[in-house]
Amino acid sequence: MRLDGAVALITGGSSGIGAATARKLARAGTRLILTGRELVQLQDVAAETGAAWLLADLSEPEGPAKLAAAALDVAGRIDLLVLNAGIGWAGPTQDMSAAAAADLVQVNLLAPIELTRLLLPTMTKQGNGHIVFVSSIAGATGVRHEAVYAATKAGLSCFADSLRYDLAGSGVGVSVVLPGVVNTAFFANRGSKYDRARPAPIPPDRVADTLIRAITTRRDELFVPSWLRLPARLHGASPRLFRWLAARFAYRSK
Ligand SMILES: NC(=O)c1ccc[n+]([C@@H]2O[C@H](COP(=O)([O-])OP(=O)(O)OC[C@H]3O[C@@H](n4cnc5c(N)ncnc54)[C@H](OP(=O)(O)O)[C@@H]3O)[C@@H](O)[C@H]2O)c1
Repeated sequence: MRLDGAVALITGGSSGIGAATARKLARAGTRLILTGRELVQLQDVAAETGAAWLLADLSEPEGPAKLAAAALDVAGRIDLLVLNAGIGWAGPTQDMSAAAAADLVQVNLLAPIELTRLLLPTMTKQGNGHIVFVSSIAGATGVRHEAVYAATKAGLSCFADSLRYDLAGSGVGVSVVLPGVVNTAFFANRGSKYDRARPAPIPPDRVADTLIRAITTRRDELFVPSWLRLPARLHGASPRLFRWLAARFAYRSK
């Protein structure tokens, strides 16, 4: 898929992976619409990338519908839909409030589903386009103390895999990008630090490069760093062995 002249809507374009992707796509000549909630940050990234910006709170049930309508008002078309906005929560699941769990499901899973549902008619009518979902290795393997987060990302990956069948022959492609740990405001925003040695944090630019490669080469699924494919495959092929290794090496009590 050509990036120059394409219109891209990036959710979570105000920060981290979304902002890094916006900078790279702008350099490739893509017309951008960036969304987020933090006005100043959003305007800064938009000014840097020549993007249009739209404030949108995707934790509100009506947020995705308002955003889809506003984006179509701004550009009239969407060629590239980057569903990246997301939030985390870490801790024992019994300590999580119902509201926090619902928020995670709304922002990480329901909002991307709803934006896809609402923008697909335009994209399939165009007969050409691409949707990228930013999932997580957590959704491929499960992670201790991130049960709800991991469940939202597993749901997102499965939604994308199923959607790809629906869209076969439509000209609209679907990719899933599964990062490990990325050095962004994600951890500060969720209110707890990343406290494990592995996987080591990588810069958001590296995820942005992978995301763009997923679009240009129309790859179904890319892990970043790429070695994370191995634990994900092991989890799929031999879940008991994976769990034994995880309990022994990753989640050993200190
Ligand atoms: N960082 C990691 O280690 C890591 C690893 C795997 C996957 N991911 C995924 O990567 C994606 C991007 O995260 P990041 O690391 O770049 O973190 P980040 O810097 O915190 O960025 C998150 C983005 O999502 C937006 N967002 C959050 N809640 C929102 C809401 N209610 N409505 C609208 N926008 C909202 C934020 O916008 P505002 O700040 O403007 O509200 C921000 O632009 C997420 O889906 C995350 O799950 C991250």
